[in-house]
Amino acid sequence: MSIRHPQSPHIRSVIARRVSRRGFLLGSTGGLSAVAASGFVGSLFSGAAHAQPAQSSLTFTELTRIYDATHHVAEGYRADVVVAWGDPMAAGQGPFDPATMTGADLAGRFGYNCDFIAYMPLPKGSQNSDHGLLCVNNEYASANVMFPGVTWDNMPGSLSDADVAVINASVGHSIVEVRRTDGRWAVVQDSPFNRRITMDSEIAISGPAAGHPWMRTSYDPEGRLARGTHYNCAGGITPWGTVLSGEEGAYDSFGGDVAAHPQADVLTRYDYDGSDYYGRTRLDPRFDLAVEPNEPHRFDWVVEIDPYDPASTPVKRTALGRFAHEGATVWLNRDGRVVVYMGDDSNFEYIYRFVSDAAYDPADPASGRDILDAGTLSVARFNEDGSVDWLPLVHGYGPLTAENGFADQAEVLLKTRLAADALGATPMDRPEGVETNPVTGRVYALMTKNKKITAEKLNPVNTRPENLYGHIVELIPPGGTGLDADHAADRFEWDLFVLCGNPRIAAQGARFHEDTSENGWFVNPDNLGFDPKGRMFVATDGANDFDMADGVYGIDTEGPARALPKLLFAAPKGAECSSPRFTPDGTTLFVSVQHPAEDSESLAEVTTLWPDFRPGGLPRPAVVAIQRMDGGEVAS
Ligand code: FEO
Ligand code: CA
Ligand code: CA
Repeated sequence: MSIRHPQSPHIRSVIARRVSRRGFLLGSTGGLSAVAASGFVGSLFSGAAHAQPAQSSLTFTELTRIYDATHHVAEGYRADVVVAWGDPMAAGQGPFDPATMTGADLAGRFGYNCDFIAYMPLPKGSQNSDHGLLCVNNEYASANVMFPGVTWDNMPGSLSDADVAVINASVGHSIVEVRRTDGRWAVVQDSPFNRRITMDSEIAISGPAAGHPWMRTSYDPEGRLARGTHYNCAGGITPWGTVLSGEEGAYDSFGGDVAAHPQADVLTRYDYDGSDYYGRTRLDPRFDLAVEPNEPHRFDWVVEIDPYDPASTPVKRTALGRFAHEGATVWLNRDGRVVVYMGDDSNFEYIYRFVSDAAYDPADPASGRDILDAGTLSVARFNEDGSVDWLPLVHGYGPLTAENGFADQAEVLLKTRLAADALGATPMDRPEGVETNPVTGRVYALMTKNKKITAEKLNPVNTRPENLYGHIVELIPPGGTGLDADHAADRFEWDLFVLCGNPRIAAQGARFHEDTSENGWFVNPDNLGFDPKGRMFVATDGANDFDMADGVYGIDTEGPARALPKLLFAAPKGAECSSPRFTPDGTTLFVSVQHPAEDSESLAEVTTLWPDFRPGGLPRPAVVAIQRMDGGEVAS
């Protein structure tokens, strides 16, 4: 999301010394020859003669940078809207009509501000790339372009109770069956799989924090059954056919006096300020801290959803920790243990990893059912020597003892951020997507930006003060490449893959491949996906602050064009791009276009009515399918 982190562009000088020293360290460690062979080492755009530009393996002709009311894709491709906010999901529902929309109606329609996308083939277990389920997070609502007269500044007073009901019904998660016919993706409207999970859905609580006294409310005296999920950002897909949805911090949903709360220190560390930004307490007193003080502890977890079983109850998996989960991406380790990588998307927060105790047996999908309830959560500490240590968030380890305020493992998890502070984890420039390259086994972590970092707060892996541009960190597990890599190891190596910004403005300190074009560089990386060949596709969120479109960029991670991005897709005014996801055959790249027109003050001066452009209508966030005109593999 972007609106909770507003920033305006500034250009500041860069501490190049840090990056240079890092380059020297890499050169001296050996074993990282791919880095040395890339165009990344040495200064970018030095003016030196350069006879033979590197050839990206991505075959599309790069899109020319453009930022206007609609979306754009590279020549020879098309980008079609598959499903948008308010689209019908059940038999008999008519088209979306903003004039008559209500909360009750929208609770059965596709949700707002689409983010994470899972494509789950049908039938389950197949690699079908023409028929499947789209499982999509609906993160929040851009109320300034949903209701006349509403601005970000006059909320929540400008919202009626009916407006709040529309907002609440439009967030959470949407599952729709989709089918591709003659190259066009469409929703199967009356599918029994179609389902909304909202702020009111029943969600089980499992793992070490289930049943803890802080998890108990008047609705749920046992502390094992939550009501609803919201602020669902990115997520992940498990080998046993479920999806993971990250709850990215419910801090502004709650109203009341944080200082008077029994766990005020915890709420403060989790950014709760009692603002009740959307006026939710008016409709539901459980969001009033004085009425239901434990309700906040029941958010900011990872939710597991089984999209293939519409009757299933989603589960909050507390073993994966409590923080502003951007996502939760899954890697099946070489020994069968399940590894989940997660970023905590706030300034100076951390990167986490979960490793299951048990091994998953692919021949027995049921072995995955509760495998995420027992394992070791750890947090990353990046060292100057190019190594990264995974520090276990385990009760009794180091300072994580009762004397220091961590009574048991449940409390370590309920206070994950505080436990990670105590272990000395490395504060990062807002970690968003973290994902493993399926071919090389290397892990990439996207730092979107951190305006608040000062020269005094720099560390080996966050190297620029007032980092408005973001960067991508590469984590290299030991043990070999691809499936040989040991993602459960205590120590990895790390590298800086790219430093974002405009490489032609030296003061920004950007570093991409030296052959990066005027269209190819980017800012504010947010999510990433890999195609079947292991090429990276990055979606950005924040370029609007630089008067540029957010977009999707394809990048080689290996070979002579390593770190050379190319622009594939540009979003319309005010929108970010989120959560690129390929079909198994690589012929479709789904991407979320989130919060179009959100840069508008209000509907009175809306910057775009994408994608319908209907006079009197509303802008609508939507999932887009990018395909080659000839139906071939994207970028191949
Ligand atoms: Fe929901 Fe981290 O963006
Ligand atoms: Ca973001
Ligand atoms: Ca995001």
